[in-house]
Amino acid sequence: MEFPNYLSGVFFAIKDEQVFGQGMRQALQQVRHGGIFAGDNLVTMSKNLGFLQDEKFMAAVRKHATSDTERGLVWRQAVVAWAAREGLRREGDFVECACYKGTTARIICDYVDFGTLDKRYYLYDLFEHDPAMPHHAMTEHSKELFGKTQARFADLPNVTVTQGAVPDVLHDVAPEKIAFLHIDLNNAAAEIGALDLLFDRMSPGAILLLDDYGWIFYHEQKKAEDPWFAKRGYQVLELPTGQGLVIK
Ligand SMILES: C[S@@+](CC[C@H](N)C(=O)[O-])C[C@H]1O[C@@H](n2cnc3c(N)ncnc32)[C@H](O)[C@@H]1O
Repeated sequence: MEFPNYLSGVFFAIKDEQVFGQGMRQALQQVRHGGIFAGDNLVTMSKNLGFLQDEKFMAAVRKHATSDTERGLVWRQAVVAWAAREGLRREGDFVECACYKGTTARIICDYVDFGTLDKRYYLYDLFEHDPAMPHHAMTEHSKELFGKTQARFADLPNVTVTQGAVPDVLHDVAPEKIAFLHIDLNNAAAEIGALDLLFDRMSPGAILLLDDYGWIFYHEQKKAEDPWFAKRGYQVLELPTGQGLVIK
């Protein structure tokens, strides 16, 4: 049996990309069997990489992850897809703080046929950036991004895209019960604010994913979140993708 590889070449914070790339290619040539994943600062060998064989998931990724960077995040997207699918068995709605261009949420919507469900997907973001903000700017932040992101979900009336600062905006628009919560704000204070308001609304068994939890760049988030969860008797599982996982 042939085992697939996924070599994306997307790595962050590398000193010399050429030297790194050469060394990586040389090393991976020495791997006896397939099952190699290389991308998003994650390298594995001899792994099943089962998500690559999930045709519905991969079709959604091919359709909606349109840049090399987005395609490089496929393992993270696969974790989100799994958690969202688990959410179908739980009471409540789906929430993502924050959605940026909506790429991950759009993959999930296709994957679980979200338009056919009796659930809502609440997506939040600032969509614009000014230098006074504690999170970093992203390339597509602009006055137009809110409208573009709304347009991306125009065929799904049960998806609500809201512009505003988390946690404040959650006082105006947020579900009472949550079946799946995805937090990706790159900002410790905003994440704690979101947890303060939303964690209690999660249904038993619902999954929380903290996209930045395991990344050194966002260590402040882990520092703030570990005691927050410890106080409530939970411990975050740090995944090799850099995500943090909690089961309510
Ligand atoms: C890494 S991006 C999210 C990517 C998205 N989750 C995905 O997977 O496609 C982080 C986003 O957080 C947003 N953000 C940061 N602080 C925020 C806040 N306090 N309220 C709302 N959005 C915020 C930024 O505007 C940025 O678009």
